[in-house]
Amino acid sequence: KAEKYALLEEKNAKALLGGGKKRIEAQHARKKLTARERIALLLDEGSFEEIGKFVEHRATDFGLDKQKFLGDGVVTGYGTVNGRLVYVYSQDFTVFGGSLSETHAEKICKIMDLAMKNGAPIIGLNDSGGARIQEGVVSLGGYADIFYRNTRASGLIPQISAIMGPCAGGAVYSPAITDFIFMVENTSYMFVTGPNVVKTVTQEDVTAEELGGASTHSSKSGVTHFASANEVQCINDIKRLLSYIPQNCEEDAPVYEYLPENEVRKGLNNVIPDNPNQPYDMHEVIEQLVDEDSFFEVHKNYAENIIVGFARLGGRSIGIVGNQPAALAGVLDIASSTKGARFVRFCDCFNIPLLVLEDVPGFLPGTDQEWNGIITNGAKLLYAFAEATVPRITVITRKAYGGAYDVMNSKHIGADMNYAWPMAEIAVMGAKGAAEIIFKKEIAEAEDPEAKLQEKVDEYTAKFANPYGAARRGFIDEVIVPEQTRAKLIKAFKMLENKVDTLPKKKHGNIPL
Ligand code: COA
Repeated sequence: KAEKYALLEEKNAKALLGGGKKRIEAQHARKKLTARERIALLLDEGSFEEIGKFVEHRATDFGLDKQKFLGDGVVTGYGTVNGRLVYVYSQDFTVFGGSLSETHAEKICKIMDLAMKNGAPIIGLNDSGGARIQEGVVSLGGYADIFYRNTRASGLIPQISAIMGPCAGGAVYSPAITDFIFMVENTSYMFVTGPNVVKTVTQEDVTAEELGGASTHSSKSGVTHFASANEVQCINDIKRLLSYIPQNCEEDAPVYEYLPENEVRKGLNNVIPDNPNQPYDMHEVIEQLVDEDSFFEVHKNYAENIIVGFARLGGRSIGIVGNQPAALAGVLDIASSTKGARFVRFCDCFNIPLLVLEDVPGFLPGTDQEWNGIITNGAKLLYAFAEATVPRITVITRKAYGGAYDVMNSKHIGADMNYAWPMAEIAVMGAKGAAEIIFKKEIAEAEDPEAKLQEKVDEYTAKFANPYGAARRGFIDEVIVPEQTRAKLIKAFKMLENKVDTLPKKKHGNIPL
């Protein structure tokens, strides 16, 4: 009997070493943690329960029958983060470069199935050289098994991917389907084809970091939602994200303790400049509205003309979508529309109420936008809001012009409450543009066209550059002083807490992709 215990102990010790001491040292030398160290940082101490520790690959070609490692390059199991159940897999670069074999994929699929059946988030820590080259098509089959489950799990349980090393070729499509991607600066990259292939096909000279590093994907492509300075920060960011979201689509996000005080936020009265064309930073509005230090921005450096992120209001999770007058005057364009739409859909999947802060002068004009499909892409944001059944509130802080007024969570597309600040301008377009069009003849024929234009601009401004036309029709529920906004929102979200709204029965909608 003692021998049998000894054998188990020996196997356990061996499994913990992955690809061996030398490769672990090489991993550390690259400023990377090992698969197990990452899990230890992520989960509550002592909570990790491993599944499939002794799994080995079944391949025999290219001498693989002589190269076996317990666990086969991925550590899988479950544990808790701040007491809440999560499933996790962590690829071990010290074993065949974390490459994905048939059995490696089976281990991942096993915990994905458990996560789906038991309704808890799945977190994938990716660090892999891609398909296990020696295994060929079974490895590709393994990827597809994972993609299939990612898609089935979408909207059912939150899925989070962290890229903490290479992630190339087909491997990128699992993270791409998940809800959020985190990348680590300088030690991770993602691309469909690497720099060598790029050079051969397009003659472009580009480094792996430039092509698909964290800063590229967090600013240029928007593929990653978060870029972290190092692995520890990355894992802390994942834990923070989890604090805002529920375990699955049937549950609500955790509620934090909150003591009502300081609900009148006088500072909000001074954020909007007197000159309607002067920019201001919508972050200032957000910071003053939400619970202290609770704003957690998503896609911070991508499409900065729209701000999206999670926050807490009176202890409850909300998703915020705000136009950003400090970037491109807050216009909607292709990138900001898709960024906003994806965030809105995540919140709607997982019962997180939406707050929209609106200051939008319209859609960005130009051939670049039209030829790349601003029509289809702008429609995504419109569609995402219109189909969302979570509580939805809009505050118009300043401009709400044209079609963008409709898109930004107007009452017409199902918003529950719309507030406007007294500086709000709700109109088809800006006063100057409007005057130039509707009084074109009159201005041209005037003795002093400049003065006439100004007169007409003033006339249009007086009529439309205010929230009262919309309030008269009930498109705005209440015009409020900025300092009252926080208290109003806390009350209104509470009032909407038990909202029930369902979409007509159908297979699924057909969002303009
Ligand atoms: N299949 C099998 N083994 C792999 C592998 C793969 N896809 N990728 C890496 N490995 C192994 C290497 O043979 C090496 O094994 P060793 O420790 O026994 O020497 C180990 O993983 C580490 O790889 P190495 O190349 O030394 O690391 P690196 O940091 O210099 O480079 C990569 C990492 C990912 C850039 C490089 O390994 C690579 O290009 N891999 C192939 C990527 C690919 O084309 N994948 C298939 C298409 S999806």
